[in-house]
Amino acid sequence: MPALLEMRGISKSYGSVRANRRVDLTVQPGQIVGLLGENGSGKSTLMKVLFGMVRPDEGGIVYNGRELDTGSPRAALQAGIAMIHQHLTLVDAMTVSENLMLGWSEGGSRWLDHAAMARKVRDAAARYGLEIDPEARVEQLALGEKQRVEILKAILRGAHLLILDEPTSILSPPEIERLLEFLRRFRADGHSVVFITHKLGEVLAVADEVVVLRDGQVAGTAPAAGATRESLARMMVGRETAAPQVRGNAAAGKVRLQVQSLAARDAGGALRLKDASFELRAGEVLALAGIDGNGQGELADTLAGLGAPSGGRILLDGVDITQGRAAQRLAAGIAYIPADRAGTSLVQGMSIEDNLLLRDIARAPYSSGGRIDRAAARRMALQRMQDFDVRAASPDAPARTLSGGNQQKVALARELGRGPDVVIAFQPTWGLDPGATRFVIDSLLKLRDEGAAILYISSELEEVLAIGDRMGVLSDGRIVLLTDRTDADLERIGLAMAGAMAQQEAA
Ligand SMILES: Nc1ncnc2c1ncn2[C@@H]1O[C@H](COP(=O)(O)OP(=O)(O)OP(=O)(O)O)[C@@H](O)[C@H]1O
Ligand SMILES: [Mg+2]
Repeated sequence: MPALLEMRGISKSYGSVRANRRVDLTVQPGQIVGLLGENGSGKSTLMKVLFGMVRPDEGGIVYNGRELDTGSPRAALQAGIAMIHQHLTLVDAMTVSENLMLGWSEGGSRWLDHAAMARKVRDAAARYGLEIDPEARVEQLALGEKQRVEILKAILRGAHLLILDEPTSILSPPEIERLLEFLRRFRADGHSVVFITHKLGEVLAVADEVVVLRDGQVAGTAPAAGATRESLARMMVGRETAAPQVRGNAAAGKVRLQVQSLAARDAGGALRLKDASFELRAGEVLALAGIDGNGQGELADTLAGLGAPSGGRILLDGVDITQGRAAQRLAAGIAYIPADRAGTSLVQGMSIEDNLLLRDIARAPYSSGGRIDRAAARRMALQRMQDFDVRAASPDAPARTLSGGNQQKVALARELGRGPDVVIAFQPTWGLDPGATRFVIDSLLKLRDEGAAILYISSELEEVLAIGDRMGVLSDGRIVLLTDRTDADLERIGLAMAGAMAQQEAA
């Protein structure tokens, strides 16, 4: 059978950065290709070239036996290629159907009436397990549902090749399962997929073929059957990966943060965080496992001062800060690492250096007599870029030109590099490759050893077990389990998380 897609000798540079270097990629009909690589290795760039958003400096694309016009998303769409971006592109104020119809007319096909569209949505949704209410307004949908709408849009346009750039980083475990199941059904219909992820387990679960990029080049290609996490990790970094650092024990000190019966509503007014109580001490990590939608976001935001709680109290060193604003908490030494780096953490048009300086702009040694000391700022930026392995041409590079994972590293470098003494980390490893993930965990443990109090909220059980001195599970707005590392019972934690999943499935 002839290949569905042949990308040949694709090269693309941004100034001195060679994002893709003579990359070849072949995709067969009915094949799922997993595209792996460290942060900044060129995965998104290659897929933007395929989808016509970026014109390659060299190389060509043959799709379905025909030369594809490079640099034209319209040509790609018409050929039957669709891309689901990491940052979704729906119009919030419109309904699901209206959004889908928008896509329709752009695709150049016949105009469809509302009823016909609603019928098509329901048919495709049932066939692929992508249930969604066609009349729902997009702004009311959760991230996972918005992604489902984007996928439906691609299917309705008749896509044969679906490109997904880190689709699972915004999903909860049951949603990830559903997405993988959809990919299998899509493949069973003879269609093809290129799937980018940092979760090696997902690749092994669903891909037929794995392609690994390193420094913009293909480092290896292998059938997924027979590959292991270790073999894939080795291909990604080009050497054996070091064993995780041995974590020392915590020497917990005085109580820093007291959270008492905290409750909070989401943006739509629903009570998500119902009754959370815990204490956080200096020199310990409290890791809360749980699945988004069980009050995680509301807990993190209220602790960071970004939203007002609807009940309960927060005390810092015995002082009531329940009504305090974010700026006050920052001044008190609380750092917040949100999951959504691009949306809330970085100013996209600003340089790396200025993003790193953001919180300290009015402080010595970066400012004196109302002037910014550029030399001091540059030293700080270079040091933090080195410490956090931010890969970019220079501190002057605008944040938006960084790869997804490198943006997250800048956000982390800013918050953790200042040596905070209380850290609220909400899914801090979002979008990071395995090496960078371990680096984040090691950095937080180092801060802990220096006396910081750290709250770590994550849906990754592995991470919770790796980092927590104490562990808990947040389920349906309540902390349902709180245990010391020494008595941690994996099975109980797993079961409590599963309870949370069942809640979410039911909702
Ligand atoms: N618009 C741009 N301007 C300048 N440099 C860019 C631009 N887009 C990407 N780059 C650079 O190209 C390289 C590859 O980036 P790319 O986004 O393809 O990486 P990636 O493999 O998707 O990484 P991640 O896993 O972090 O998402 C990076 O060094 C990045 O900084
Ligand atoms: Mg990327």
